[in-house]
Amino acid sequence: MKKIPLIAILLITFGFTYWAFTKKDSPPGDDRETEIKNDTEDNSEYWESVTTADQTPDYQPPHPEHDFYSDGPKTRDGIGKYYQGREIAHVMGHPAINWLERREREQEEAPKKALDLIKLAPGEVLADIGAGSGYYSLRIAMNHLNARVVSVDIQPEMIDFLKERAEQLEINNVSPHLGKIDDIGLPDQSINAALMVDAYHEFSHPYEMMTSIASALKSGGRVYLLEYREEDPDVPIKPLHKMSQEQAKKEMALAGLVWDKTIDDLPWQHFMVFRKP
Ligand SMILES: C[S@@+](CC[C@H](N)C(=O)[O-])C[C@H]1O[C@@H](n2cnc3c(N)ncnc32)[C@H](O)[C@@H]1O
Repeated sequence: MKKIPLIAILLITFGFTYWAFTKKDSPPGDDRETEIKNDTEDNSEYWESVTTADQTPDYQPPHPEHDFYSDGPKTRDGIGKYYQGREIAHVMGHPAINWLERREREQEEAPKKALDLIKLAPGEVLADIGAGSGYYSLRIAMNHLNARVVSVDIQPEMIDFLKERAEQLEINNVSPHLGKIDDIGLPDQSINAALMVDAYHEFSHPYEMMTSIASALKSGGRVYLLEYREEDPDVPIKPLHKMSQEQAKKEMALAGLVWDKTIDDLPWQHFMVFRKP
């Protein structure tokens, strides 16, 4: 066997050590950013494939020049901004993930019952807006393997948690999506249904959010709105995190959505269904 010169061995050893060293020391944040970027790219390709040209005319926000918001007294759980007479609640921060995922949730709120009421046909897309940790998103995706769930939230920590859970459980029909406070950022007429569970009352821009949801919905699309019942003093939830049916109907109507029905079978929440005409 030919002798390999010592200088070549030294060069190979040095090169390998340098590669291994730099690879190990990459900051973890870089990986995370790349993952999020990839996710966005994946989603945009996906959205291009689901949007079609043969749709009804574009949705126009019913009140483009609206001035619906007013400032008012800021209470402990609110932001001092008012919409249609109600103070908007603070956003629940990601440290509350444990509360969203609590074991007693099934016993207290009966989410299994609510999940049964959410209809999703094969091939349909449902956007879970204010998805949080993905409590609903992941269960819906598992119950409807031939449909897709887009989980929208404004907190990157919620999106990261949900994404990790989906990977652990090998759920492939969920697309986590980082939205903005006033725009879900999904293409027009790209979804069949939208779901909001205990989230709508904390949207800081409810009118803009609802009009962006309405434009993303296909004609005839459904909105499932679950809010704690304000009319029921026995529901043990802070007042600003509750909503009456009357209030919800008024606010959805402003975005051009039509009330279809309310199913009041859940222990704490109204289960309301609206439609895009
Ligand atoms: C109380 S949590 C409910 C989470 C989930 N729906 C559940 O029931 O487990 C409300 C969520 O809405 C999100 N949120 C608030 N404003 C939002 C907005 N404008 N767009 C999307 N998500 C929003 C918050 O970040 C939070 O994760």
